[in-house]
Amino acid sequence: MQSFAQAYSAGLAAASTTVTIDLGDRSYPILIGHGLLDQGTTWDSLRPGAHAMVVSNETVAPLYAERLQAALRPRYAKVHTVVLPDGEEHKHWATLNLIFDALLHHQCDRKTTLFALGGGVVGDMTGFAAASYMRGVPFVQVPTTLLAQVDSSVGGKTGINHPLGKNMVGAFYQPDLVVCDLATLGTLPAREVSAGLAEIIKYGPIADMAFLEWIESNIGALVDQDPAALTHAVRRSCEIKAWVVGQDERESGLRAVLNFGHTFGHAIEAGMGYGEWLHGEAVGCGMVMAAHLSQRLGLIDEVLVARLTRLIERAGLPVRGPRLAARNAERYLELMRVDKKAEAGEIRFVVVGPPGQAAMRHAPDSVVADVIDHCCD
Ligand code: NAD
Ligand code: GLY
Repeated sequence: MQSFAQAYSAGLAAASTTVTIDLGDRSYPILIGHGLLDQGTTWDSLRPGAHAMVVSNETVAPLYAERLQAALRPRYAKVHTVVLPDGEEHKHWATLNLIFDALLHHQCDRKTTLFALGGGVVGDMTGFAAASYMRGVPFVQVPTTLLAQVDSSVGGKTGINHPLGKNMVGAFYQPDLVVCDLATLGTLPAREVSAGLAEIIKYGPIADMAFLEWIESNIGALVDQDPAALTHAVRRSCEIKAWVVGQDERESGLRAVLNFGHTFGHAIEAGMGYGEWLHGEAVGCGMVMAAHLSQRLGLIDEVLVARLTRLIERAGLPVRGPRLAARNAERYLELMRVDKKAEAGEIRFVVVGPPGQAAMRHAPDSVVADVIDHCCD
């Protein structure tokens, strides 16, 4: 007889869903469900090849690499693994090179498929390695953090950091498949769950106020990792992101709205030193700042600013910005000028307004400096 846990898992597995990224002949599915890692059918659509290379890190590999390797062995003659150091501070050239070292060491050919097993750091680096190894090999995202499942594994942005700027070197390169096994979130520390919630909350004010209301009503369940709440949040986030990426894959316009909170957030990450604040924490706090900026530009009222701030706080995220220097606002502005959205040294911010829609705007330095002074300790 099935135990309750088995029946529960089977029920959740049966509830698996697929969201499609529609990019013509480069379209691909995002599979979302519990226990997908071990289900043979998960991997049915993959291109055949002699080699598979699982790229993971020293935290995630001991937890899940063996199961992924076992699932892949029936499909590939050789399944290799490369284990990277863990952390945003390692998202740079030297770590990326470890992937190329492993691929060349094992004589991996151009039909080799790379599997990114981990959070956004592993996913961004593996995607960039796949984009450039032999000028492009297939890759699959197997995101194991909430943030990676709702954002970074989807849409084909790949890359690494530079000491002078976040994600400044990279490529647009789409995976063949994204596998969000929600069961892997069971080992995620609470701080990382909160970081993921930042990117989920983001989708509300920029695209779907009904989703924002749903998050407000279910924030406790999400923080407690209720499986049904997480499934809905991951699916709705992927649907919104899939829609945006389907309209504007290379961020010539619309896609930039997905960076709500990121211009301030990237300044926090670079200014504090990569890894000090988690990406999601910086984005959470950055959204508070971007909401204040939207209000000062007359696009939203203070009620929505307070609502967003309260929700971000309830998600376990910081809502006060860190002081980066004695001349704090100047330092933020200097860092934000290295943002990818900047044009001719002029910063472009994602602002909200009306609620549920976002746009790109320039803002006078004096207004931005006021927001920074108001939002930082
Ligand atoms: P991360 O990759 O550093 O993972 C967070 C931590 O959780 C790490 O220590 C990791 O080893 C650990 N971990 C991962 N899965 C685990 C699990 N199941 N159990 C226990 N521990 C686990 O951080 P992240 O928040 O996943 O991703 C942030 C990165 O993603 C940033 O570099 C950011 O720039 C990038 N990002 C990219 C995009 C994109 O579109 N490409 C979008 C958003 C963010
Ligand atoms: N995370 C922002 C984007 O994918 O465009």
